[in-house]
Amino acid sequence: MAKHSVAMAKKRWPIILAAFLSVSTVTVLLMRATNSDSCNVNSLNLAQDKQIRSSVQVGNAASSPLNFMKSKLVLMVSHELSLSGGPLLMMELAFLLRGVGSEVVWITNRKPVEPDEVIYSLENKLLDRGVQVFSAKGEKAIDTALKADIVILNTAVAGKWLDAVLKEKVARVLPKVLWWIHEMRGHYFDGEYVKHLPFVAGAMIDSHTTAEYWKNRTKERLKINMPETFVVHLGNSKELMEVAEDSVAKRVLREHVRESLGVRNDDLLFAIINSVSRGKGQNLFLQAFYESLQLIQEKKLQLPSLHAVVVGSDFSGQTKFEMELRKFVIENKIQDRVHFVNKTLAVAPYLASIDVLVQNSQGRGECFGRITIEAMAFRLPVLGTAAGGTMEIVVNGTTGLLHPAGKEGVTPLAKNIVKLATHVEKRLTMGKKGYERVKERFMEHHMSQRIALVLKEVLRKAKQ
Ligand SMILES: *[C@@H]1O[C@H](CO)[C@@H](O)[C@H](O)[C@H]1NC(C)=O
Ligand SMILES: *[C@@H]1O[C@H](CO)[C@@H](O)[C@H](O)[C@H]1NC(C)=O
Ligand SMILES: *[C@@H]1O[C@H](CO)[C@@H](O)[C@H](O)[C@H]1NC(C)=O
Repeated sequence: MAKHSVAMAKKRWPIILAAFLSVSTVTVLLMRATNSDSCNVNSLNLAQDKQIRSSVQVGNAASSPLNFMKSKLVLMVSHELSLSGGPLLMMELAFLLRGVGSEVVWITNRKPVEPDEVIYSLENKLLDRGVQVFSAKGEKAIDTALKADIVILNTAVAGKWLDAVLKEKVARVLPKVLWWIHEMRGHYFDGEYVKHLPFVAGAMIDSHTTAEYWKNRTKERLKINMPETFVVHLGNSKELMEVAEDSVAKRVLREHVRESLGVRNDDLLFAIINSVSRGKGQNLFLQAFYESLQLIQEKKLQLPSLHAVVVGSDFSGQTKFEMELRKFVIENKIQDRVHFVNKTLAVAPYLASIDVLVQNSQGRGECFGRITIEAMAFRLPVLGTAAGGTMEIVVNGTTGLLHPAGKEGVTPLAKNIVKLATHVEKRLTMGKKGYERVKERFMEHHMSQRIALVLKEVLRKAKQ
């Protein structure tokens, strides 16, 4: 059987790849440098998490927890339309709502002056799925805002749209606004963007850490209070889970990617999958990787060859940081052990091919870090910084190992790399536990369930 189905899967894998290139799957790297530390966003993790979990049903359309949104009018205001995490997540929500029969209108607040191919194709995607696309400024936008049952603003920056377009009608719309926030950066704490925040029905934020940060910073910097805030963790798309749970597809993808990288089947691959930027910590990962090779040599450990894969490069950008990474590799003569892969929307083939995911985001860490739950779906253990959303996903010692952010994390990460390279059994068990954790709380139906609770609450408040 095996041979036959491998052959079948070989025919199928371009289809699988194509599925992952499709933007609706949102299996996406955050590629825009400008967005590099915004969150790849969104599943809900409310205080009642336990209660939710016990009442979760696997959602097909008939039993979707979002069914009560049928024929409700939802206006979505996106600060931009691009292949970065924020807009793609809102598109995902738009499609979930379309799936249960909501009427959805989409507005992009900030558009480039020049016609843009990406925007054109994303707009078509929206239209194909029955989402109406209106201009951000016209009467239609204002009418829809007044008529809508819920208005969802995506990211802090979208707040500028309120005054600019609604003008004196703002106050009528605020009670039905749900503000979805995916970032943890200082410059978003700008009165211009968020002055209406205290008056909206609710804020939806991707992790407890990020919610905490917003609470502190709005109070300290702007002297305003957050509205009622719902923490919403992300869930994995059905498309991603389909590949993650198809062992034949995985094997084919693994063979293909390993062949393209020139690594053997039993070599150990540690990958970091994020847009290349200092905030994502590829430099510190490579230092730790180099240190781990030295440790192995010193201790004369008999191990398969270790390789580092950096997925998310944009060498055409020729940024100082990219050059720095290349220089480090050449200076330390580890060219045959380090592989740079261009940024890509298709992460599944890499997840199918590697042995360990490294999530090395620095500073406050990831807001959520969707790649982490995607990797866990592929039964990969995660070596992550003890910061941000990663700490809400990875169970230290069970589904992965955490190390400190910053330079002081380099040696602990190196040791963790050696640990997972040495203890095969531990590595596989951690991967399995990660998969179980994803199945338990980071699936699309969990996300729908959690978002449903938030939307219900917003509807309730809007009616008051
Ligand atoms: C928020 O403030 C509290 C109290 O000052 C502090 O304990 C907490 O660490 C702060 N959280 C963040 C994310 O800054
Ligand atoms: C990666 O990007 C660089 C620069 O844009 C390009 O020269 C190279 O061919 C790309 N590699 C692959 C495998 O597409
Ligand atoms: C993770 O666990 C290890 C031991 O397994 C411990 O040394 C380390 O301090 C823990 N890190 C965090 C952030 O809890």
